Amino acid sequence: MAFGSASTVPASTVPGSTVSASTVSASAVPASGVLASTVSASAGRAQPALPGRMAGRRALITGGGGGIGLACARRLLAEGAEAVLLDRRADALSAADGIGAAPVACDIRDPGAVAAAVTRATGLLNGPADVLVNAAGVYRIAPLLDLTPEEWDDVQAINLRGTFLAGQAMAAALIAAGRPGAIVNISSTAGLVADASEPSAHYNASKAGVLALTRQMAAEWAPYGIRANAVCPGVIDTPMLRLMDDPAAGAAYLRTGVPQGRLGSADEVAAAVAFLASDDASYLTGAAVPVDGGVTAI
Ligand SMILES: NC(=O)c1ccc[n+]([C@@H]2O[C@H](COP(=O)([O-])OP(=O)(O)OC[C@H]3O[C@@H](n4cnc5c(N)ncnc54)[C@H](O)[C@@H]3O)[C@@H](O)[C@H]2O)c1
Repeated sequence: MAFGSASTVPASTVPGSTVSASTVSASAVPASGVLASTVSASAGRAQPALPGRMAGRRALITGGGGGIGLACARRLLAEGAEAVLLDRRADALSAADGIGAAPVACDIRDPGAVAAAVTRATGLLNGPADVLVNAAGVYRIAPLLDLTPEEWDDVQAINLRGTFLAGQAMAAALIAAGRPGAIVNISSTAGLVADASEPSAHYNASKAGVLALTRQMAAEWAPYGIRANAVCPGVIDTPMLRLMDDPAAGAAYLRTGVPQGRLGSADEVAAAVAFLASDDASYLTGAAVPVDGGVTAI
């Protein structure tokens, strides 16, 4: 996968039970600056939004206060959708205010909280969300031999069970209302390939699980007009990124491991998500789309 590498992130800094999302984010290189210093000025820009493509659509974005979730919200709003951002972080609520979305605080691990949040979103959107982007997630690093069952379970609970809970609640509401919809789950290239130098088995397993879950959502809910697809981002310039913690090692990885030779931007992931959520992808379901600059092609 390569958000970081064994050489850039010493295992000793990541005891299985103590690394939290906030710890990872706080130590990560901020989004601004990384991209500019590693790519040409024109790289990393997604094509402009297609105004009106999502008109009348109601979007719920989990992890909406994060790098990719917020970019997805901006893109869907720019294309005409209404949006509710779900996140457990307080600052996600202010991000929602700034882009014209409605905030709903929720810990995606908690089934009762997710059910309540989806109900709340239905009220805010004046109807059940017909677009769900599951972007809530954490990235934690721990070698398998140090990984505790508690840490394993917590990553599955956020990345995989949270995706299941939000998807189930959204689909149930849509099916009850007799309406079609689209789900886009944010998996990862870590769900497609292993990386011997990257000690993050719990993360990788959760993201592979998201792909299996996506296929099952597609199969079970196609009769109701609900499509489900996944995107598999590679190294994307968000607060989650660890690759550039060691700039020299990060640059070397970009040269040798990424055919396009640069980080991706959250906007580039959002462009793929908006396509999959839109009717432009009307015959596309159960797919896993890498947005990775070619990482999984080599
Ligand atoms: N950045 C990358 O390089 C990259 C690559 C592949 C996949 N991804 C995936 O993309 C998704 C978005 O990641 P990002 O890069 O925007 O990271 P991010 O850290 O900026 O955003 C993740 C968001 O999820 C929220 N979240 C975490 N735990 C939660 C919980 N229990 N309940 C509710 N919300 C919770 C966080 O508060 C945060 O706003 C994640 O699923 C991540 O695994 C990211």
